[in-house]
This record gives sequence, structure tokens and C-alpha cells, in this order.
Amino acid sequence: MFLLLAQRSPAAETVSPDVQFCLTCHSNSALELVLPSGEKRSLFVDVERFGRSVHGDKLRCTDCHSDVTTYPHPARSFKNLREFTLAYYEICKGCHFDNYTKTLDSVHYVILAAGNLKAPLCVDCHGAHDVARPGVPKSRISKTCSRCHQEIYQQYSRSVHGKALLQEGNADAPVCADCHRAHNIEDPRTASFRLRTPELCARCHTDEKLMKKYGLSTMVLQTYLKDFHGMTASSHRKEQITPAAVTAVCTDCHGVHDILSVKDPRSAVMKANLVRVCAKCHAGATENFPAAWLSHYEPSPQKAPLVYYVKLFYQIFIPFVIAGLVLQILLHIWRVVVNR
Ligand code: HEC
Ligand code: HEC
Ligand code: HEC
Ligand code: HEC
Ligand code: HEC
Ligand code: HEC
Ligand code: HEC
Ligand code: HEC
Ligand code: HEC
Repeated sequence: MFLLLAQRSPAAETVSPDVQFCLTCHSNSALELVLPSGEKRSLFVDVERFGRSVHGDKLRCTDCHSDVTTYPHPARSFKNLREFTLAYYEICKGCHFDNYTKTLDSVHYVILAAGNLKAPLCVDCHGAHDVARPGVPKSRISKTCSRCHQEIYQQYSRSVHGKALLQEGNADAPVCADCHRAHNIEDPRTASFRLRTPELCARCHTDEKLMKKYGLSTMVLQTYLKDFHGMTASSHRKEQITPAAVTAVCTDCHGVHDILSVKDPRSAVMKANLVRVCAKCHAGATENFPAAWLSHYEPSPQKAPLVYYVKLFYQIFIPFVIAGLVLQILLHIWRVVVNR
């Protein structure tokens, strides 16, 4: 079995002859390529860093650079740095075909195909010679996205989810990829994504074991679905109606990347702020407007006693009336039969 680097080898002597050959020139930190655009690219390869990467003890240089095996190298012309990276990123496809295929379904690929060269390629998120385990620690995932989505990352890091992960190292909290995935990222601004938001949140927020740790209710989905907004959302999904602004989903009330604890005075769903949330869609909503609504509560003698007792009354009263009616009809029939 071929072994590229002994563990933590400090010097290049332990490196295999194939790799040693490449390093005769590429361990020179002054070696660089000047592109027609005037941009420079260092051609230095830090072999120790490479040795520590996930590929370090598995791959030779030529496993990836299969077309560069001797010197002089095949002639190539890159006009600028981005073209250089674009020319190389498909190297990963050779061994990670599944991930590559997924990226073709990503919003990032859509913008790349449309000519936006800022779209991330494998190497922008993973690196090339220093690829690490992408989810270790979990916070690495959100940091990967933060390079280009700084503003959202800032919001996220102040949210109840971001704080739990970044400050407390709590891996129960969602990272960007839990909600968006990593390779086949969907456009989050479509109607279908919006109407699926409740499921996105429910994955964790209906998990009894998980939510028990934080003393959070797992009834949030069920109560949402029973209420007018949730009913409208489900029926629109079934009928595939697209104007998605027809009802409120979880994120309209709680926020998206800036979700706060409901006990936080700045939370959008805090009593004092709630009317502003409703007023986004219910023009002219007054202070009393949200009061008439049960939020995530089931009616109970403590919360909304009137609704609870009215409901209870009907639950007893209606079966009683129906049973009475049926009995009366049966008695009538009996009398008719007997009196004949
Ligand atoms: C004799 C010195 C030398 C050796 C040995 C060498 N390179 Fe290079 N390499 C260069 C120089 C100089 C460049 C700059 C572009 C050029 O001249 O082709 C370069 C460029 C590159 C590039 C980037 C640009 C391009 O042309 O694709 C890659 C990738 C590369 N080398 C990989 C390798 C690999 C892999 C090996 C080992 C199989 C290797 N090199 C061995 C000198 C060397
Ligand atoms: C896992 C695949 C992989 C392996 C293994 C690998 N490379 Fe690369 N290499 C790449 C990719 C991808 C790029 C383009 C990176 C970019 O555009 O940011 C690259 C770029 C380069 C470049 C251009 C300048 C630079 O440093 O980015 C040189 C030179 C190079 N590789 C040499 C080597 C040598 C020498 C080895 C062996 C020690 C090696 N590579 C091993 C994938 C690999
Ligand atoms: C020649 C085949 C080959 C090529 C080309 C290659 N890889 Fe890998 N990759 C591997 C192998 C083998 C592993 C080790 C799998 C393991 O240990 O779980 C691996 C592991 C990984 C991992 C960690 C997987 C995990 O489960 O944690 C990532 C991320 C990764 N590669 C990204 C890349 C990227 C990005 C490129 C292109 C720059 C690339 N690979 C090119 C063979 C390759
Ligand atoms: C937008 C950033 C981004 C891009 C672009 C990207 N990845 Fe990933 N990749 C990630 C993240 C984040 C993870 C970790 C996902 C997780 O653990 O949920 C990951 C995980 C992986 C893994 C580990 C195992 C797995 O399948 O989850 C491999 C292998 C991998 N990526 C290869 C690639 C290759 C090859 C490409 C290019 C075709 C690529 N990635 C493009 C962000 C990216
Ligand atoms: C190298 C830069 C880069 C990285 C890294 C990156 N993105 Fe993006 N992303 C973009 C660009 C550019 C767009 C196009 C829209 C724009 O210009 O903001 C985009 C668009 C998106 C969109 C579509 C919404 C829109 O504004 O069009 C989502 C969702 C998204 N990215 C999520 C992620 C996630 C999740 C990660 C991490 C796994 C990530 N991105 C990593 C550059 C990046
Ligand atoms: C708890 C789930 C969740 C997490 C975690 C999350 N997002 Fe989002 N994201 C959403 C939802 C839902 C939307 C759609 C919002 C809307 O209705 O406009 C969205 C929208 C977006 C958009 C496009 C719209 C915009 O506001 O520009 C981008 C880009 C994006 N997210 C990136 C990220 C990044 C980067 C991270 C990590 C730092 C992240 N998201 C973490 C759920 C999430
Ligand atoms: C990957 C799992 C996961 C996903 C997905 C998720 N959450 Fe959370 N959420 C958590 C955890 C864990 C906590 C508790 C964090 C803490 O208190 O440290 C939390 C806390 C909250 C809180 C604060 C509760 C309180 O008052 O303390 C709200 C509100 C919330 N999430 C709403 C949402 C919404 C809305 C979505 C969907 C857009 C969502 N969450 C998606 C795991 C998740
Ligand atoms: C119409 C606005 C609205 C919608 C839609 C909504 N919520 Fe809430 N949510 C609230 C309010 C208000 C509270 C404050 C709780 C309370 O004291 O009633 C809350 C509380 C919560 C809590 C904290 C529960 C606890 O035990 O303290 C979580 C978690 C939560 N919501 C998640 C969700 C999820 C997941 C969805 C979508 C399935 C959702 N919410 C939909 C307004 C809303
Ligand atoms: C994103 C927009 C949006 C937000 C935010 C929103 N609603 Fe609604 N709401 C609607 C729409 C549209 C309807 C009518 C369709 C339906 O029943 O879902 C509705 C229906 C209702 C109804 C049923 C009676 C009626 O007027 O049709 C009540 C009560 C209600 N909402 C209360 C609230 C309360 C309280 C809040 C704030 C906590 C709130 N809504 C926030 C969009 C919203």
C-alpha cells in the first residue's frame, strides 16, 4: 500500500518519490505564475498542510493533477485567477461524483451558468490542498457560508440558534446547511420553499427528546396547522397555488436568520411587539388584535378558559342532542309499529 506521508512528518524526506519530484520545484515559495490579467498566483505547495488534509495520506499529486506528470507541463492559458480556479475545480468530480451531480441542482450553479463567476465552486468551500472534514466542528459549516454571506451570518450569530452553536458549541442548533443543504441548495424565495417552512422547523421542534432538553413545547406545529394560517398553508400546498403571501408561516412571526427566544424582550413575538407582526398583513390591527388569538396554545382552563369551556360544552352538548334525537326517532318508529 502506498503511503504518502508518515504521520506528522516534518521534513520532505518521507515523501514518496512521485511527490518528491513535483516538490523539487513546488516547494519553492517564490515560484509563481503571472497571468495575462496581471494577477499573480503562487505555485508553492505546503506539503505539511497537505499531509494534514483528508487526502494527505491517500492521494498523490497526480491523482488529482492527472494531466501534469512531467515537466514541462502541458501548455495552458488562463486569462485571470477565476479562470484558473474554474479550470481546476472539476478535478474533484473524478472521485466525488455524487456531490458534483448535486451541485448541478443548486442555486449557486444557476448563477454560475448565468455567468456570475462569484458563485462558489468545490474549492471555494473546501479548499484544494487543505481539505478538512467539512462538518467538524459543526460550526465550520456556517463559517464556510459566511465568507460570501457575511450579513446573514452576522444576523444568524445573534439569533437563538446561532448563539447556541457558536457560543455554547451546542450541535443541536441548526447551521446553514440544515435549512438550505450544502450542495443542492434550493432557491429559498420560491412559493414552494415558503410553504414548506413549517416542516423545516418541525424536524427539530416536534422532536420530543430534543425539545425536552430546552423545555420547549413540541405542540408548535400541530397548533399552527390547526389554526387559520396553518390550514390555509396546507390547503395551498395541496392545490399547488403559488401566491404564497396568502398566509403566515413560522418565519413571518419569528423571523428567519434572526429568530430570538420568545422570552427575549426584543423578540418579534413578545407580547409588546406582536401587534407589529400582525400589522404587516392585517392592516389596521390594534393592540387587542393578537389578544383574540391563541398563539400555540391549546385552549385550557388556564389559557383561554372561555374558549375551553365553550368547546367542552359543545363536546358534551352536541353528542347529547344527537343521541336524544336518535332516541326520539326510534321511539316514534316503535310506537308506529306497536300501534298498528
Ligand atoms: C522543474 C520544475 C517543476 C516540476 C518538477 C513540476 N512543476 Fe509544476 N510548475 C512548474 C512551473 C515553472 C509552473 C508554471 C507554469 C509552467 O511553466 O507550466 C508550474 C505549474 C504547475 C501547475 C499550475 C499551472 C498549470 O500549468 O497547470 C500545476 C497544477 C503543477 N505545476 C503541478 C505539478 C505537478 C503535479 C508536478 C509533479 C508531477 C509538477 N508540477 C512538477 C515547475 C515544475
Ligand atoms: C485533492 C486533489 C488535489 C491534490 C491531491 C493535489 N492538488 Fe494541486 N490543485 C488542486 C486543485 C483543485 C487546484 C486549483 C486550486 C484553486 O484554483 O484554488 C490545485 C492547484 C495546484 C497548483 C497551482 C497553485 C496552487 O498552489 O494553488 C499547483 C502548483 C499544484 N496544485 C500542485 C500540486 C502538488 C505538487 C500536489 C502534491 C503535493 C498537489 N497539487 C496535490 C487539487 C489537488
Ligand atoms: C483521486 C480521488 C479523489 C479526488 C480527485 C478528490 N478526492 Fe476528496 N476524497 C477522496 C478520498 C479517498 C477521501 C477519503 C474518504 C474518507 O476518508 O472518508 C476523500 C475525502 C474528501 C472529503 C471528506 C469527506 C468526509 O466524509 O468527511 C472532502 C470534503 C473531499 N474529499 C473533498 C474533495 C474536493 C473538494 C476535491 C477537489 C479539490 C476532492 N475531494 C478530490 C478522494 C478524492
Ligand atoms: C457552498 C459551499 C460548498 C460547495 C460549493 C461544495 N461543498 Fe461539499 N460540503 C459543503 C458543506 C457545508 C459540507 C458539510 C455538509 C454537512 O455535513 O451537512 C460538505 C460536504 C462535502 C463532502 C463530505 C461528505 C458529504 O457528502 O456530505 C464531500 C465529499 C464534498 N462536500 C465534496 C464536494 C465537491 C466534490 C464539491 C464540488 C462539486 C463540493 N463539495 C461543493 C459545502 C460545499
Ligand atoms: C464563494 C462565495 C459563496 C459561498 C462560500 C457561498 N455562497 Fe451562497 N451565493 C453566492 C452568490 C454570489 C450568490 C448569488 C446571490 C448574491 O449575489 O448574493 C449566492 C446565493 C445563495 C442563495 C440564494 C439566494 C440568493 O440570494 O440568490 C442561497 C440560499 C445561498 N447562496 C446559500 C449558501 C449556503 C447555505 C452556503 C454555505 C453552505 C453558501 N451559500 C456559500 C456565493 C457564495
Ligand atoms: C432555521 C433555518 C435556517 C437557517 C439556520 C439558515 N437559513 Fe437561510 N433562509 C431560511 C429561510 C426559511 C429563508 C427564506 C426566507 C424568506 O422567506 O425570504 C432563508 C433565506 C436565505 C437566503 C436568501 C434570502 C436572503 O435573505 O437573502 C440566503 C442567501 C440564506 N438564507 C443564507 C443562509 C446562510 C448563509 C445561513 C447560515 C449562516 C442560513 N441561511 C441559515 C432558513 C434558514
Ligand atoms: C436542527 C434543529 C432545529 C431547526 C431546523 C430549527 N430549530 Fe429552532 N431551536 C432549536 C434548538 C435546539 C433550540 C434551543 C436553543 C437554546 O435554547 O439554546 C431552538 C430554539 C428556537 C426558538 C426559541 C425558543 C425559546 O423561546 O427559547 C424559536 C422561536 C425557534 N427555535 C424557532 C424555529 C423556527 C421558526 C425554525 C424554522 C425556520 C427553527 N426553529 C428551526 C433547533 C432547531
Ligand atoms: C402568527 C404568528 C406565529 C406563527 C405563524 C408561528 N408562531 Fe411560534 N410563536 C408565536 C408566539 C406569539 C409565540 C409566543 C408563545 C406564547 O407565549 O404564546 C410563539 C412561540 C413559539 C416557540 C416557543 C415555544 C415555547 O415552548 O416557549 C416556538 C419554538 C415556536 N413558536 C415555533 C414555531 C414554529 C416551528 C412555527 C411554524 C410551524 C411557528 N412557531 C409559527 C407566534 C407564531
Ligand atoms: C404574512 C402575513 C400574515 C401575518 C404576519 C399574520 N397573518 Fe393572520 N392572516 C393572514 C391571511 C392572508 C389570512 C386570511 C387567510 C387565512 O385564514 O389564512 C389571515 C387570517 C387571520 C385570522 C382569521 C380571521 C381573518 O381575519 O381572516 C386571524 C384571527 C389572524 N389571521 C390573526 C393573526 C394574528 C393575531 C397575527 C399576529 C400574531 C397574524 N394573523 C399575522 C396573513 C397574516
